[in-house]
Amino acid sequence: MCGIVGYIGHREAYPIIIEGLKRLEYRGYDSAGIALFDGTDLKVSKTKGKVVDLENRVATEISTNAKLGIGHTRWATHGVPNDINAHPHYSNSGNLVIIHNGIIENYDALKKELTARGYTFKSDTDTEVLINLIEDVKLKENVKLGKAVQIALNQVIGAYSIAVFDKNKPDEIVIARLGSPLAVGIGDNEFFIASDASPFIEYTKNAVYLEDEEMAILRVNKDIKIRKIKDDTLVDPYVQELQMNLEQIEKGGYEHFMLKEIHEQPNAIKDTYRGRLLVKDGIIRMSGIDDNIEKFLNANRIIVVACGTSWHAGLVAEYIFEDLARIPVEVEYASEFRYRNPVITPNDIVIAISQSGETADTLAAIKLAKANGAFVFGVCNVVGSSIARETNAGAYTHAGPEIGVASTKAFTTQITVLTLIALKLAKAKGSISNSDYRYHLQELELIPDKVSKALKSDEHIKAVADIYKNARNCLYLGRGYNFPVALEGALKLKEISYIHAEGYPAAEMKHGPIALIDEQMPVIVIATKKGHYEKVVSNIQEIKSRKGKIIGIVTEGDINVKELADHIIEVPETLEPLSPLLTTIPLQLLSYHIAVMLGKNVDQPRNLAKSVTVE
Ligand code: M6R
Repeated sequence: MCGIVGYIGHREAYPIIIEGLKRLEYRGYDSAGIALFDGTDLKVSKTKGKVVDLENRVATEISTNAKLGIGHTRWATHGVPNDINAHPHYSNSGNLVIIHNGIIENYDALKKELTARGYTFKSDTDTEVLINLIEDVKLKENVKLGKAVQIALNQVIGAYSIAVFDKNKPDEIVIARLGSPLAVGIGDNEFFIASDASPFIEYTKNAVYLEDEEMAILRVNKDIKIRKIKDDTLVDPYVQELQMNLEQIEKGGYEHFMLKEIHEQPNAIKDTYRGRLLVKDGIIRMSGIDDNIEKFLNANRIIVVACGTSWHAGLVAEYIFEDLARIPVEVEYASEFRYRNPVITPNDIVIAISQSGETADTLAAIKLAKANGAFVFGVCNVVGSSIARETNAGAYTHAGPEIGVASTKAFTTQITVLTLIALKLAKAKGSISNSDYRYHLQELELIPDKVSKALKSDEHIKAVADIYKNARNCLYLGRGYNFPVALEGALKLKEISYIHAEGYPAAEMKHGPIALIDEQMPVIVIATKKGHYEKVVSNIQEIKSRKGKIIGIVTEGDINVKELADHIIEVPETLEPLSPLLTTIPLQLLSYHIAVMLGKNVDQPRNLAKSVTVE
């Protein structure tokens, strides 16, 4: 994790880097730092805390019109978050400066070797080891910076995206990537470097994404030169035109990105199905599926790999694929799958789900599946991300940038894509009747309006949040399609309010969690009509008899749960397979309001980062 930004060109580097770091803060926010070089003076400023703390410190420490600079916002891996461990780091001579996102796994062995040769280290980081290794190579081999970086990286085990410069070479920055993302914005005789394109979107729409095991030397007034780190072969840069715009990455009047993203869901879901869901023609158009339809139809099973919220979307997919398309599905935590020697055959299809497209465990699971001959299909939000590029085919969710660390619109748009795929395969297999198929398409098209309606309960949900904001524990229950929603609701509450919450299949409650229920325990029960409604109502009665506080998520007009529950929150009626798209909404809002009332940092919860690019 960590965000890196850099600039070299004719503009003042500082504002580009500091604003860029703010946009990348979703990647880590426990410390931040910046190095600015005007050709003579090198100014480095670092601090524990957020980018705004760095900004305050820089105001008193640095005044510069440097045209070269690099900056970093950190999510600690090696060494606690403090000023010394914050990046940038420099070499013992003070000439080489580096920022790094990733982990150098063999840093300890390298550090011992360098220490034996007289190198000293101020920080506990693996990054300081790397920059001294580069310096050691440069001096020993008497080579230029680019070559030294290349030789050093060939000795390194781990993951990185780095930017390095040499005080003696003020017109170049060397960058490299393996396992952590790195985008280069190509301007007019200038280059922007960043973990994603958001820091330079207002300066250029042209970007090159480095591939794994590639490095580049960025020189003012020269074209970008990309090489393979292993064998030095030159690679033709592929310049992409960025689709992102500035408005998408700003808060647009909302207090938090999370709230903005919750409210964006009606449009995000529309964007997901736009051009794909052709209700009048009864067609779902998805080239990634059309081009590989035989593979899907002949697959033994589908294995979903994902983490966190994306894993919950995978669980919803399990219900819908098995229910409608009659294809067996297994849903795996990518972090477990990659290490447990799973049985994978060429007749398996692996669907990897990831908002960021950069999650290290999911990426590793994909590589394992591919190595075993499986066809891998990606469901990603970030266009051009590592997972999008690593998979054999895929479908983007088109949710737009999700900045809040707590995933919201990514979840509902992932479910939308997966629903489209399931319906398309069900139709192709004949496992759904024509009329049912058409009915599902029509209902799916209505979902954005129904999400808008569900969002209208915001004030009521806020009032419920006020009553339960001081709860120490919460239980979330759901059955069938809404069991994964219960898990997701609990995750949302945990990660932004730090209240302990657990999601359970409602019927499983009596096998243990029921012991937790007393008059202090809020239990959020998803009890929408259809599905297992009566069974869930019985579960609610069991909670009531033990004096638990019941918050029912119900279908509009519900009477039974209303009589039993302490509070109800209504969502519009829809088909059962589509219900997670609606029942999720009140749970997102409930967590949001509780976290805000508790004064928590909703967009940047403690210990977390938006994309987890380390194991
Ligand atoms: O980018 P990804 O979808 O691969 O990320 C997976 C998880 O890290 C992510 O969903 C995480 O659980 C969120 N913070 C949940 O809100």
